[in-house]
Amino acid sequence: MRHFLSTEDWSGVEIAQMLEVATQLKRQPLQTTMQGKSIALVFFNNSLRTRTSFEIGAWQLGGKAIVLNPGKDAWPLAYDFGAVMDGTAEEHVAEAAQVLSRYCDLIAVRCFPAFQNWELDREDKVINAFAEHASVPVINMETIVHPCQELALAMTMQEQFGNLENRKFVLTWTYHPRPLNTAVANSALMIATKMGMDVTLLCPSEDYLLDARFMEAAQDYSAAAGHQLTVSHDIESAYANAEMVYAKSWGALPYFGRWEEEKPIRDACQHFIVDEKKMALTNKARFSHCLPLRRNVKATDVVMDADYCIAIDEAENRLHVQKALMTTLLNQ
Ligand code: CP
Repeated sequence: MRHFLSTEDWSGVEIAQMLEVATQLKRQPLQTTMQGKSIALVFFNNSLRTRTSFEIGAWQLGGKAIVLNPGKDAWPLAYDFGAVMDGTAEEHVAEAAQVLSRYCDLIAVRCFPAFQNWELDREDKVINAFAEHASVPVINMETIVHPCQELALAMTMQEQFGNLENRKFVLTWTYHPRPLNTAVANSALMIATKMGMDVTLLCPSEDYLLDARFMEAAQDYSAAAGHQLTVSHDIESAYANAEMVYAKSWGALPYFGRWEEEKPIRDACQHFIVDEKKMALTNKARFSHCLPLRRNVKATDVVMDADYCIAIDEAENRLHVQKALMTTLLNQ
């Protein structure tokens, strides 16, 4: 039995097959592949797209989704083994994952980092504990990676470009008043390189490089495709000739848990906003973002409302790729 925790565990061929199923499901949305089946959606964090697309997706396949918010409408969970549970947690993930596996055919989990200690957060303990104790496939709905978003991004770019090999992809850091999760940036870097694109990571300084695990994975995928992953801190040269601009904000890993020290550095980088002047430097690039996005902070109104902005298509494709994913995992 395979989980879907990271696309690192799935080959390019397997991902291509899932995207093909997603394309078929986009044409013919109502199917019966989840008839009599169910999925538990466990949310430790907020969501608009992920929750809606999984719930509607399960329903369109004839299945049932149940949403649980630990600490709100479900018991607060502990996940460390050997912990004396004398705090707020009423239940251990060991029992929760086993019990949900008796009721449901799939378990999906969203659990963002705690943003205090990257060395702890990068272990991704919560979803790994679910995967260890569940007897059904576990899906990552965003932890330190966001693999469902990766599938949607890949599908959306394929709709625009066809074959993605050798297309010029720029992942640009953008300003946000708060430090955000690196998950989507890690994921965008991995899927773009895995699909054979010519990838540039544009960020303000070395402080904003991503975790070595994801930088190295992206370098390996790039090398396999005959490219070299480019890191740039120069906005103009990074945008020049880009065919796809993907934006995301994230917190600097060396300052993890010391965010008051990072704030002046981040505040000095507001010019990384994606605007029409930067987009004019590109090779008629498409623009996208995983959403939610703060307008006129991360990208301007003009960029968000332009014909080249495909962020809404990408959000729609979350529905189709997750239906393909659920079907794939249930058929294994
Ligand atoms: N992109 C994404 O995962 O959106 P939500 O946080 O709204 O689910």
